[in-house]
Amino acid sequence: MSETKGETYSRLAKEIAAVIEGETSSVARFATVACLLNEAFDHFYWVGFYLVDPLNPSQLVVGPYQGTLGCLRIPIGRGVCGVAAQKLETVLVENVHTFDGHIACDSLSQSEIVVPVFWKNGQLAAVLDVDATELSAFDDIDLQGLEAICATLLHEAIT
Ligand code: SME
Repeated sequence: MSETKGETYSRLAKEIAAVIEGETSSVARFATVACLLNEAFDHFYWVGFYLVDPLNPSQLVVGPYQGTLGCLRIPIGRGVCGVAAQKLETVLVENVHTFDGHIACDSLSQSEIVVPVFWKNGQLAAVLDVDATELSAFDDIDLQGLEAICATLLHEAIT
């Protein structure tokens, strides 16, 4: 019997925790998560991180990702990623064409979910962005599964 999506997220969370255990580089952690999520789900077309730029904290700059060419920079407050970074909460968009200010890095993207990632001290570090080529590709199971993975991502990271 094949796994449900919720079971896949639970398995992945454990797998990710095991692979990144003791790894202090946030970039290595982000790259691992982008790879394992991309391998696990067929409905993920683009998956990766936009990082708060330490030299210009009003901007996000692209980090590790899997997929087609992503935009390099996104101002906080703009696009789905920038809004999630500003609100400090997950944004789930069923149809990107109806989202005011959506940034189309790839015209095939139809729906999107963006989850904030925090440093251990509570400061925003990055957002996890996932795009799909289908409308309404993400649901509450994706939201909970991705939030659970992002919640512990930087606890051991120092860079
Ligand atoms: N669509 C995003 C931009 C990033 S790309 O999809 C990879 C947004 O509106 O923030």
